[in-house]
Amino acid sequence: MNLPTQNEQNEAVGISNRPIASISTTSTIARSSDELAAARSKISVSDLDFFYGVNQALFDITLKVPEHCVTALIGPSGCGKSTFLRCLNRMNDMIEDTRLTGSVLLDDEDIYRPRTDVVELRKRVGMVFQKSNPFPKTIFENIAYGPKVAGMRKRAVLQEIVEHSLKQAALWDEVKDRLNESALQLSGGQQQRLCIARALATSPAVLLMDEPASALDPAATARIEDLIFELKDNYTIVIVTHNMQQAARVSDQTAFFFQGELVEAGPTNTLFTNPEKPQTEDYITGRFG
Ligand SMILES: Nc1ncnc2c1ncn2[C@@H]1O[C@H](COP(=O)(O)OP(=O)(O)OP(=O)(O)O)[C@@H](O)[C@H]1O
Ligand SMILES: [Mg+2]
Repeated sequence: MNLPTQNEQNEAVGISNRPIASISTTSTIARSSDELAAARSKISVSDLDFFYGVNQALFDITLKVPEHCVTALIGPSGCGKSTFLRCLNRMNDMIEDTRLTGSVLLDDEDIYRPRTDVVELRKRVGMVFQKSNPFPKTIFENIAYGPKVAGMRKRAVLQEIVEHSLKQAALWDEVKDRLNESALQLSGGQQQRLCIARALATSPAVLLMDEPASALDPAATARIEDLIFELKDNYTIVIVTHNMQQAARVSDQTAFFFQGELVEAGPTNTLFTNPEKPQTEDYITGRFG
């Protein structure tokens, strides 16, 4: 008698047999594992624990973020992705009663050392949120805001920064004739690119993105993904996404979080086709989460 194969058994109890390789990692643009290994660490996180009051949200996270690469953070809801992302530019400082131990080095300097200028840090490590949040100002003023806060007053220079940032965010052609209109009149996808342009206007080195495309339609999502690819030559990008196809398409390195722990991190292609840990395989094949 032929015994059922593991796959047939899985099918019988409704466990997905979708091969891991069905998540396409055909991206020809990803850095190779050799390139990843050779890249210098832009951010280096060691032994990071994070607490909201008495509740620990992150456990002993150690991760290197390679320069000029895209790192994707994946994992089920509540596993700590956004918390971790916010640790990278001290955005969690804004939340009361939080505590962190361990270290986060940016260019070899600990961003949690007491003398860090947090405003300066957030200029170097910009952030784009899930829900676009333009200021209720004109398109021009949205982009010029950061440079103005930094003391830039010359109109010609501001104009140059606005144009350059909008071009980098692939929005210039759509808005160049309406810079004095309210940013709130833009479509959702345009608003999200505006927020990316606003983050770029302060010349950051690192861009943190928390599910930047989750509220967008497929065409607007594709534009954001193209943009991420274009930006990585000049910026180091960390992106949270629930969409594993997206992680596979845009990232060079992927980190899988589960219940506040970093289960596994590695070259995206390897993680999606040959994960080391069974938990990672279960997640990316859709068995949970
Ligand atoms: N401001 C906060 N105060 C207290 N607990 C919080 C706060 N923000 C998040 N948490 C808790 O920390 C844990 C991690 O949350 P986090 O938002 O980082 O998860 P996530 O992976 O980003 O989830 P999602 O995919 O749903 O966005 C959760 O248990 C959450 O309830
Ligand atoms: Mg989140």
